[in-house]
Amino acid sequence: MHDLHRFLPEHRGPFAGVVRSLSIERASWVEAGRVTVETVPGQLAAFPETDQDRRRREILAGGKLRAGGRIRQITQWQDPGTTPWAWSGSGRLGHAGRVCRFIERYVKVPTGRGRGQPFRIRPWQETDIRRLYGTDRDANRAAMLSISRGNGKTGLSGALAVAELFLIPGAEVLTLATNERQAAIPYFRALESLEKSPILLPHAVIYADRSDPGTILPGRGASMFPLPAAMVSALGYEPTFAIIDEVGFVESGTWVAIQGAGGKHPRSLLLGIGTPGFDRGIMYGYRDLATGANPPPHFAFVEHSAPLTWDPGKPATWKRANPALGDFLARDALELDYATFGLNTFRTFRLGQWADREAAWMPADTWDALDVVPGELLPGSPITLGFDG
Ligand SMILES: Nc1ncnc2c1ncn2[C@@H]1O[C@H](COP(=O)(O)OP(=O)(O)OP(=O)(O)O)[C@@H](O)[C@H]1O
Ligand SMILES: [Mg+2]
Repeated sequence: MHDLHRFLPEHRGPFAGVVRSLSIERASWVEAGRVTVETVPGQLAAFPETDQDRRRREILAGGKLRAGGRIRQITQWQDPGTTPWAWSGSGRLGHAGRVCRFIERYVKVPTGRGRGQPFRIRPWQETDIRRLYGTDRDANRAAMLSISRGNGKTGLSGALAVAELFLIPGAEVLTLATNERQAAIPYFRALESLEKSPILLPHAVIYADRSDPGTILPGRGASMFPLPAAMVSALGYEPTFAIIDEVGFVESGTWVAIQGAGGKHPRSLLLGIGTPGFDRGIMYGYRDLATGANPPPHFAFVEHSAPLTWDPGKPATWKRANPALGDFLARDALELDYATFGLNTFRTFRLGQWADREAAWMPADTWDALDVVPGELLPGSPITLGFDG
């Protein structure tokens, strides 16, 4: 049994989770029309207004409760068992390796192709993950992954968040974005992965209120929340793992605030995953730094993109930028985009390139490839001028 006061001093928010043995203090909070939770010594009884008996049976049998009641305090939690993810042999792996093996063993694909199946980390994803984390001796504090649309950014974000939640005792996992709605996307993706896993789910208490969501592992003192980025510095969070999906859209001040909150744990990682865009913000800036003469220490920038000189219409070019192509990313979607998007939009979103704005009248490399005829202009020569403003 673990004392939950530490984790939930005055928790608000509807409750969803697997209840094995839970005793609730105080009986006086009910939201009209929702769920009543009452104290029964040693056990939990819940009485939703409808379907009482079914719900009650489910709870007493250790079933799943997903309802909109408000729980003030949870005083005790019985861990449903040992922690199976601390499997023998894991000590030999580095942290990035443990994350990958954990995901493959316990995490399920939340949506899309292979939904509900074990989440298979592709070899290229494992290479990425190892580079993003760094080695245990030289671990990164921050990292960015640049990859085109549909190559599993959000799916991977969710899986990594679940792994970090379970692997690190006392973990504080944050999913972040410019606003609350965006931040909730990888969080709920993580939850879907977690809820599909019969081994992981019983260890978690999931607060499902969309306005105040969060997941804790009472037995491990670990927690996971979605947060709008602006709140991180304001509220003094100390994340062990923070993931920003669509980092290309995050304002630089936001990234700076989160990166600046690092260093409170012996190891922590701020990971941004995104696709190039037309606006050259924080992601472009860090890419510049990482590829420059003095790349920052304890930082990795991993990019999947097609070389600018490659024909943007060729399948080999598409594959270079889209490692998931033909796997969990369907080729026909790219065929449609190539036929309908302007070239620079296609380059930006599907080829991982920092192309000029769509309005540019000619791609930079087409210009570069033009013939230059040396020599002087003779009086009377016809001249054509083009202006792009
Ligand atoms: N190994 C895997 N890694 C990532 N996603 C996977 C994997 N296997 C299956 N999937 C599924 O493939 C789909 C990938 O789409 P996802 O939304 O994660 O991509 P994305 O890069 O975030 O797309 P977008 O650019 O539109 O935001 C998801 O439905 C995900 O669940
Ligand atoms: Mg996404």
